[in-house]
Amino acid sequence: MKIRSYPPVGQPISFRRNPEVSAVDELFQGLNQRWVSSGTSALALALLDIQNKSADPNKKEVIIPGYCCPDLVSAVNYAGFKARPVDLAYDDTCYAKQDLTSALSSQTVAVIAINFLGMPEPINVLRSLVEPYGVPIIEDNAQWFPMNPSEYSMQGDYATFSFGRGKALNLLGGGLALCCREWAVPEPAEQAVLTEALIWQIKGRLLNVLTLPAVYRWLEMLPFLGLGRTEYHVLTELASFPAFKKPYLSANLQQYSGLSREVEAIYRRRLSGSLLSHRLAQQDERLLRFPLLFANRRARDEAHRRLQSSGLGSSCFYAKALLDIDGLPQPSMLAASTPNAKDFAQRFLTLPTHPRMKPEHAHQICDQLLDLMG
Ligand SMILES: Cc1ncc(COP(=O)(O)O)c(C=O)c1O
Repeated sequence: MKIRSYPPVGQPISFRRNPEVSAVDELFQGLNQRWVSSGTSALALALLDIQNKSADPNKKEVIIPGYCCPDLVSAVNYAGFKARPVDLAYDDTCYAKQDLTSALSSQTVAVIAINFLGMPEPINVLRSLVEPYGVPIIEDNAQWFPMNPSEYSMQGDYATFSFGRGKALNLLGGGLALCCREWAVPEPAEQAVLTEALIWQIKGRLLNVLTLPAVYRWLEMLPFLGLGRTEYHVLTELASFPAFKKPYLSANLQQYSGLSREVEAIYRRRLSGSLLSHRLAQQDERLLRFPLLFANRRARDEAHRRLQSSGLGSSCFYAKALLDIDGLPQPSMLAASTPNAKDFAQRFLTLPTHPRMKPEHAHQICDQLLDLMG
């Protein structure tokens, strides 16, 4: 029986307050910021802004990838639109350009371009496709955060970030939307609840303990917790970013920027022949999780089973294409055909890169995978 189990993702929260140096003011200089309660809310706010600035308020469709977090659908619906899923390119995390071109129309409100675990969608390519329709692009960076935000260069018309659990900067919730023009929607007003900061501290410290490998293995044995399960949640309100979290941003950003990337380098080096390596070779951004695509579902499932039995933190991520995720209300999405996204979902696995993973764990993972791949 395994004595410890590593979670697939799990940046511990730093509770070092730094109220004097306002990391917030220095973040993303020159870009207009809107702070909200989640990455989903940040996307919804960007869509509402587009709607408010639009000369044609009857447009209804927002293009999203066929393999993505169902929170994108929640944001699209909250803003009063329908999601139009578009297939991925084969063996890739980016849109199939032909499918995207076919999906664009006079009804398109926006295209959401996801930075997939640190691998961005090439926005310059999207730009040339959307230009004839005058469609804005929202860069969804929920799964990535720049190491030095003041040097970040926004490629989309909007950019959004998440400070949720399992993200690069984990503040147990929070979101940020950026726009290079003035916003046409206000920042949601803060409704301060005195006990909220204390509850947040307790929850955060508890989470830091629960994600310790020696503790996490017990949680994994409780199926009713639904760890890692992908579910659709309706977004019911756009709430503000709690001011009490801002003094912790600086320390969490510092912690994140200072993390060793050795584990990731071992995966990159030893698994360099795997599918998706071509995409990884195009960039050197920190990866929230290491992406692996297997030749078929059987090989992926076998790798996952082996790594799980050793407590080594692999994950099938969303496990399903967006159209197959349980509980998504049908009217929220337009019909689509996304065979590549379906295939990707069956062959995709992530490896942990968080700071609790040490080089010896990365080597154990690579040994097991290379043994399997023969
Ligand atoms: C690509 C993407 N966008 C948006 C979100 C939503 O972020 P949040 O959980 O902060 O609402 C997620 C969540 O995982 C995500 O992966």
